[in-house]
Amino acid sequence: MGRKILILLGHPGAGKGTQARLIRHRLQIPQISTGDMLREAIANKTPFGCEAKSKMDAGELVSDAIVNGIVADRIKRPDCNKGFILDGYPRTVSQAETFRTHMNDGDHLSVIEIGADSDRLRKEKRLIGRLMCPGCSEIYNQYSRVPQNDQICDVCGKGLVHRSDDREDLILERFRTYREETYPLVQFYQNLGVYHQVDGMKPIHEVTKEILDIVDQKKKVLMPVANGGK
Ligand code: AP5
Repeated sequence: MGRKILILLGHPGAGKGTQARLIRHRLQIPQISTGDMLREAIANKTPFGCEAKSKMDAGELVSDAIVNGIVADRIKRPDCNKGFILDGYPRTVSQAETFRTHMNDGDHLSVIEIGADSDRLRKEKRLIGRLMCPGCSEIYNQYSRVPQNDQICDVCGKGLVHRSDDREDLILERFRTYREETYPLVQFYQNLGVYHQVDGMKPIHEVTKEILDIVDQKKKVLMPVANGGK
């Protein structure tokens, strides 16, 4: 049986991580967040973590070679046998082309852009107000999605932190990087007939419902490159 593969695209702060974490239980497939994996590599001071840090601190993308490598390794793990949710990957057309070579005959692919307006994301303080759990990566917001106990993760009890790249100057740079390097993926996946969009400015639970409605249609099949599936 083919794997169920869901790619979530969207501006920084659109809600990719929030939605991936909510729907992974319903779909019973893991969330693969390249941002989380890179932050873990930085915390563990691995060689590619050191290389990634300078790029992430500048709001730029980490090299395709590093990111393609960590994703290729991750999706080989047994928990991905039934499928997975990609949150933050692919992020360039080159990454998308590499990822296609990892697809198998019969895999079901849905690509969903969580559409968002960058001015409204800033007004809603989605990134400036974000709090994140360094233990389990749960996502909160000090204005709109507050934990039950001040600054403490509801899930694992660790103290919450602000992400180091959630600074006003870097947010603008991350938006620019998204527009220039990631947005072309919309056209890429439209051409393959697997692209959908949901409105990421709606309340979180409404966005979740829209995503699940799309995934439940189960009719989007992307053939791997080897089978000429354009
Ligand atoms: P990454 O960690 O992927 O960050 P990002 O893409 O900038 O996205 P965010 O995590 O900031 O936002 P999100 O869409 O997940 O929003 P969230 O759900 O948290 O990447 C970080 C860096 O790593 C990159 O800059 C790059 O350097 C590197 N990197 C990662 N992947 C890479 C790749 N493939 N190639 C190269 N480099 C890579 O929500 C944000 C906030 O909004 C939260 O507070 C949440 O509570 C709130 N919120 C969410 N949805 C709603 C809603 N509907 N209504 C109200 N509030 C909401």
